[in-house]
Amino acid sequence: MPTFEPYRIKVVEPIPITTRERRERALEEAGYNPFNLDADVVTIDLLSDSGTGALSAEQQAAGLRGDETYAGARSFHRFRDVVADLTGFPHIYPVHQGRAAERVLFGTLLKPGQTVLSNTHFDTTRANVELRGCTAKDLPCAAYRDLDSDAPFKGDIDLEALEAELSGPDDVALVLMTITNNGGGGQPVSMANLRAAAEISRRHGVPFFLDAARFAENAWLVTQREPGYENHTPRQVAEEAFRIADGAVVSLKKDAIVHIGGLLALRDPELAKRCELLVIAGEGFRTYGGLSGRDLEMIAQGLLEVTEPEYLRARAEQTAYLADLAAEAGVDSVRPTGVHALYLNAGRLLPHLPPSRFPGFALATQLYLEGGIRCAELGSLYLGELDEAGGLVKPAPYELVRLAIPRRVYTQSHLEYVGEILAAIAKNPERVRGYRLTEIPPLLRHFNCRLAPV
Ligand code: F0G
Repeated sequence: MPTFEPYRIKVVEPIPITTRERRERALEEAGYNPFNLDADVVTIDLLSDSGTGALSAEQQAAGLRGDETYAGARSFHRFRDVVADLTGFPHIYPVHQGRAAERVLFGTLLKPGQTVLSNTHFDTTRANVELRGCTAKDLPCAAYRDLDSDAPFKGDIDLEALEAELSGPDDVALVLMTITNNGGGGQPVSMANLRAAAEISRRHGVPFFLDAARFAENAWLVTQREPGYENHTPRQVAEEAFRIADGAVVSLKKDAIVHIGGLLALRDPELAKRCELLVIAGEGFRTYGGLSGRDLEMIAQGLLEVTEPEYLRARAEQTAYLADLAAEAGVDSVRPTGVHALYLNAGRLLPHLPPSRFPGFALATQLYLEGGIRCAELGSLYLGELDEAGGLVKPAPYELVRLAIPRRVYTQSHLEYVGEILAAIAKNPERVRGYRLTEIPPLLRHFNCRLAPV
């Protein structure tokens, strides 16, 4: 089996090389929040794997065939056929990105006061639930609590907790399984857990949906880790996963390897009719949903490419390589390594910083200062409970940093560079300073907050 990327580079884009002085100035101007940095001061961008992938020649060629007819475009039919084949859902709506699908579904399905249950809600998903006046409850499995354990499916939902919640007093409107579990260390969900969670939800008469942004990467990990699936292709696993659910919200910016796009897929024709109204009112007519014909074509092609085993193997190996480099540098990451990102254990690397000084955030900014590497904190800044003055009332369970890896974009030497910068930081971790909040927005604070070093 080859252990290299099954593609070569045809189009290249220069990346900015900056000085330490420039980066210090840029970070200060950004209120120390990497989300406020401009692309021209970032050398290696590991902020997100969303919409940041490289298109294939076939996707670009498909884009040129895009039919830009307002209604009933050929490109919509190609998109719908590919999605229907993959998912088996009869009602398929394109939308501009994943969170639009969430807004349409929640806007139709949820009534204020209701609850949504998940293995872990992604941040925009939680925000969209809360904007409907509802509660988003996470029920991650017990294995996830041990960051160092090599349990294969730490993205699973806690089935006992799910049963208890569904038998409890809350009015549960929806069970939503995030595959892979982005908020939960990028860990996969097993097919056994999906089936069991679907059965429990169905028994309680509650719709069971997938948040399937990384469905192909989840499928790959199932073929590698779940007994009984060794001889399945990732495509077969993905097809089976979708057929377990009543519907799916999908950000296509991840596993369709495109720059923009999302979809809402449903089995229930009545629900579909009601959702369609919100698609048309907020996104666009049902055959384009805020996307161009060109986008729909590139999505259709990307969805075929993404389950190719050699592509998935190379991608998983790239992330595993970065995990090895981090380990050699003396930086632990969440085990076992997933596919779309490496989650560094900043709390362990920087024990001199208490959670109230945001060690994950401190490591993320240090990676930028020392190497122009941008990444995101997943710790107390993102998940902790704060008081009005920005003081930490309840820390997050872990202080992590996510190094998200764009698809087909960076080479091995880029990753080696990240490893070198990590090693330089890990040599003298006590030099890394903590932070305090100076500006705190009420919702999705990690995107917009500003901080200052302490
Ligand atoms: N669900 C999951 C699991 C996600 O990871 C994301 C986005 C969304 C939904 C929302 O999709 O961005 O297309 O509106 N995740 C990106 C990330 C932003 O960096 O993890 P979207």
